[in-house]
Amino acid sequence: MPTSADAIWQSIAETPRPTLTQLFASDPDRLAMLSHRIAICGTDMLFDLSKTHLDAGLVELFGELAQTMHLAGMRDQFLSGAKINTSEDRASEHPAERGMGAADAVEQAAALHHRMAALVEAVDEGTFGEIKHILHIGIGGSALGPKLVIDALCRDSDRYDVAVVANVDGEALSEAVAKFDPAKTLVAIASKTFTTTETLMNANSAIEWLREGGVDDPFGQLVALTAAPDKAAEWGIDETRILPFAESVGGRYSVWSSIGFPVAMALGNEGFAAFRAGALAMDEHFATAPWERNMPVLAAFADLYYAQARGCQTRAVFAYDERLRLLPSYLQQLEMESNGKQVMRDGTALNRPSAPITWGGVGTDAQHAVFQLLHQGTHLVPVEFIAARLAAHEFDEAHHQALLTNCFAQGAALMQGKASEDPQRTYPGDRPSATILLDSVDPASLGALLAFYEHRTFANAMLLGINPFDQFGVELGKEIAKSMDDRQSGEFDPSTSALIEAAGL
Ligand code: F6P
Repeated sequence: MPTSADAIWQSIAETPRPTLTQLFASDPDRLAMLSHRIAICGTDMLFDLSKTHLDAGLVELFGELAQTMHLAGMRDQFLSGAKINTSEDRASEHPAERGMGAADAVEQAAALHHRMAALVEAVDEGTFGEIKHILHIGIGGSALGPKLVIDALCRDSDRYDVAVVANVDGEALSEAVAKFDPAKTLVAIASKTFTTTETLMNANSAIEWLREGGVDDPFGQLVALTAAPDKAAEWGIDETRILPFAESVGGRYSVWSSIGFPVAMALGNEGFAAFRAGALAMDEHFATAPWERNMPVLAAFADLYYAQARGCQTRAVFAYDERLRLLPSYLQQLEMESNGKQVMRDGTALNRPSAPITWGGVGTDAQHAVFQLLHQGTHLVPVEFIAARLAAHEFDEAHHQALLTNCFAQGAALMQGKASEDPQRTYPGDRPSATILLDSVDPASLGALLAFYEHRTFANAMLLGINPFDQFGVELGKEIAKSMDDRQSGEFDPSTSALIEAAGL
């Protein structure tokens, strides 16, 4: 009879806890066991989890948990397009955007990509006049992915300037359009549902901006990226410029779909295809590697160990690469919107912590701001470093060397600590970190990296028994904001009513 999850969790909690330095000293094979290279489209990604407290015993216990929680079966169902998002009665088919999934979903995604590539080419060929700027309007998953990928990969692109606007605060739109010429701007309205208030308000203001900028037919410069093409058409966007994607692609997993249109514009169709190919290589790894060498799953084992057995309420991600500075905010949505849940898939209470809080920043800046707490604070925070072996800037290579040595020094310092007779100058050490080293920040590597995080988030969810694909928790605030906009202010609590009055709403 399989062991119950609770019994396994108890064994995990009771497992002896040698320090990281003891773990290295007692096992000469530790590095080989926990540090792995994965080949991705002709480059290598190195995942080093050896500075976490995972050891053979813990990996085995998590393997038992994986069996009890049917991780392999759930993964296979997910990757073959079964309806695993049970609360919304649908599949979660973002891997089909990269080429993995049910044949019909893969075929449909490929056809839609073809259509998008044709629109990119048409813009390149001047069908819309001289376009130089892309104003991408969307929020959450309809903004964070494109923003990250463009910031990472299109710094030297001479194709189009892209600005991504999410916030309903008019300052965001105002900043974005400041350097754009309305006549040369294509506006991409990105919304899976095509109902999101912030996005539609920004889109309306962008149309006004086009009109005031002398564009006679502003609707002729609009493109819609959506899973609700009918709504986009009702809204007035011409069918030829509506790029649909499947309803079964979740918002925070949608950068691979037509939501990635500005990426394809800035990077070119080939670059966008390489980005998806990198993700597919990671899908294949996730689909086939045994748990102890399956990087998304092994990373999830470490996540769960710290969140569940060591009481860590947060995890921190530091990109030691300016090009990846937006990764922490992308991961915040991916991990917290997916796994910040209070119930299991069957609706019963989750009787343990759900996802930890993801936070982070960019190295080396963060060393001079928040690392004090990581080294000497009373919280235990598992840290993740992401770096690339190769730089792309034109300055002296000493910059990149300093960046990487700082990154690796932080991991070593967190682990080894430092004794001192002066308690103020003592570093306790034994603080865990993982390091991901890319060869370079290129489309395939970034695609693989983001797919790694998606699958790790999925593995965390399956091992906890929750559904990572819904997000009902975001609805209540939207409803209340709407009722405020509708001026039903009598229904609010005294504090909220007083705030409404104080703001003069
Ligand atoms: O409010 C949360 C959310 O639904 C996210 O999951 C989603 O990425 C975002 O809003 C934007 O939604 P849409 O793409 O439908 O505008």
